[in-house]
Amino acid sequence: MANVNDFDFLLLTPGDFGEVTEFLAKEYFTREPLTLGTQSKDIRPTEGRIGADIRKCLESGASMGVRHRPTGELVGVSTCIFESQEKSSTPTHPANELTLFYRMYDEVMKGVEVFEEKEVNKVLSVYMLGVHRGFVGRGLGQRLVELCVAKGVERGCQRSVVCITSKFSYKIFAKLGYEVRHCLDLTSLGPDWGVDTSLMNGNTLVSVMAKRLS
Ligand SMILES: CC(C)(COP(=O)(O)OP(=O)(O)OC[C@H]1O[C@@H](n2cnc3c(N)ncnc32)[C@H](O)[C@@H]1OP(=O)(O)O)[C@@H](O)C(=O)NCCC(=O)NCCS
Repeated sequence: MANVNDFDFLLLTPGDFGEVTEFLAKEYFTREPLTLGTQSKDIRPTEGRIGADIRKCLESGASMGVRHRPTGELVGVSTCIFESQEKSSTPTHPANELTLFYRMYDEVMKGVEVFEEKEVNKVLSVYMLGVHRGFVGRGLGQRLVELCVAKGVERGCQRSVVCITSKFSYKIFAKLGYEVRHCLDLTSLGPDWGVDTSLMNGNTLVSVMAKRLS
């Protein structure tokens, strides 16, 4: 577990865009299994669909970060948005260098109707969870998600969803009560999907997990 005195958790805002995108470029897109499997290179998270998604997450008031107190460095983020039935979150920007990544992400997310359950009209959607490679395994990832879920509850979400590509993040969400609602085994896909599972560090499942919040 993390020594709580070494870390400060904070609510991320649009003013953090530069720092968050720099962190994600270095610490998320170099290690996240689907990015590795689709061999997505030269990712500029400030631009295109990914840039727009990150902006939406920072505007939501539900994205959390963690700083290493001794250095002041941002060492973890969990980016989230609120989705509501009235407001669709259809992408408006090109996927650019993440075309194959988003193709797979959209395919898996199609497997779950986010608003299928009765009385669910607001959903906390967790987008990207990343912890600096020098600080993993100390409970920071789990704590970030817990804080986001608390924001979701505070803001009246009835449900939370996340797309999981890593065994480590699966552990976090399962521990917090999320259940697998849909799962795709990437080894079963044809070559036209452009995913090389041998590059994914033993992570070959992409799952949508969900949890009722109220
Ligand atoms: C996934 C990630 C956010 C986890 O962050 P974290 O701060 O290490 O998470 P936690 O410390 O809360 O650990 C979660 C679980 O994973 C385990 N774990 C994390 N890193 C590990 C490692 N390198 N080796 C073995 N186990 C590890 C922890 O022990 C813990 O398991 P436990 O509950 O059985 O103890 C981090 O590994 C990461 O940023 N990965 C790259 C980006 C990515 O893949 N994001 C997820 C996409 S769905």
